[in-house]
Amino acid sequence: MRYRMTALAAAVAMPFAVPAGATDLEVTHWWTSGGEAAAVAELAKAFDATGNKWVDGAVAGGGNTARPIMISRITGGDPMGATQFNHGRQTEELIQAGLLRDLTDLANKEGWANLVQPKSLLDSCTVDGKIYCAPVNIHSWEWLWLSNKAFEDAGVPVPKNWDEFVAAAPALEKAGKIPLAIGGQPWQSGGALRVLMVAIGGPDVYQKVYGDKDAEVAAGPEVAKVFAAADNARKMAAKSNVQDWNQATNLVITGQAGGQIMGDWAQGEFQVAGQVAGKDYTCLPGLGMHEVISTGGDAFYFPKLADEGKSKAQEALASALLDPKTQVAFNLKKGSLPIRGDIDLGAANDCMKKGLAILAKGGTIPSGEQLMSQDSLNQINDLFVEFFNTPSMTPEAAQKRFAEIVGTAD
Ligand code: BGC
Repeated sequence: MRYRMTALAAAVAMPFAVPAGATDLEVTHWWTSGGEAAAVAELAKAFDATGNKWVDGAVAGGGNTARPIMISRITGGDPMGATQFNHGRQTEELIQAGLLRDLTDLANKEGWANLVQPKSLLDSCTVDGKIYCAPVNIHSWEWLWLSNKAFEDAGVPVPKNWDEFVAAAPALEKAGKIPLAIGGQPWQSGGALRVLMVAIGGPDVYQKVYGDKDAEVAAGPEVAKVFAAADNARKMAAKSNVQDWNQATNLVITGQAGGQIMGDWAQGEFQVAGQVAGKDYTCLPGLGMHEVISTGGDAFYFPKLADEGKSKAQEALASALLDPKTQVAFNLKKGSLPIRGDIDLGAANDCMKKGLAILAKGGTIPSGEQLMSQDSLNQINDLFVEFFNTPSMTPEAAQKRFAEIVGTAD
């Protein structure tokens, strides 16, 4: 999706006068699955309506591949107009190096502090009192997505929690299904570990490990239970032979797999496939064990640019992202929750409603990306993909290495 138009052509096509200085702006992101593409098209539409032009810079391969490319473009002097990152700690170095734009004046003018909920979202954009990002959604990792058809085919009821899911695995296997679908990219197994940490260990253990970096807790008996669950997960996923997260979601959509542990962006794929929450698929927040969701998600950051016209367009984009209409259109397609409390999400599906209800009662925890540096998270991701791919690695051996990483993490 590359839009290139001359200013004249744009002026002719626009139903209203193009503001002086309207310009092309390249926007990078890693939203390349069907559901993600449908959602990002809503952001492009909202930005184009300002008279400027969204030049799409999708980078395939998921966040772990895309982020280093985006970062090296910014540090290497070839910045884009705006870029997606997960709000949290991923941009600390770019901000310290003075490469990202301070949005505080715009945020104050538009009253973001009163609009954005929960407050932790804007806090995650803030360094030394200055706001560096425009949050667009709340995405949470802590979900189990289940194929109702797979369980029907296997002749067992759709599970209501992780324990029932594990108990149903033999019936699924007997019916020729893969109990648990997971893609081979390290961030997927590393993410699944954090979800199990919350579901089995509970939010306090999760906070101690990822927030306080408490190596003793990471090596202790509560986390041993989490590693036993992870051992079950890898056995259930032994035949899950896909790479990308959305290919794993597709195994669930088509009833070839029983379930997938994945963030709520998976909803975008069910939606594009025409599936209905509650009827075709079931979602269990907190794996049905601890019903909490993390308030991670996506935000846009704006590299400092010399061009005045493009700098103005950056502000127009930031405003458009937080606009109530954009928030509704984008989040309904993305499967995420809006970042404003004053949004009517009447059209939300069953699963989004569950997420909204948990949010309303304050059942939230910080995301991994808010608590731990991306370097430390990557080390855990690498360990976990090795654990999933190496049946001879015992859960005890994996836990020992995990505790060592946690002990040196920042
Ligand atoms: C982003 C989501 C995205 C997912 C998979 C996450 O890091 O927050 O918006 O859908 O990666 O690409």
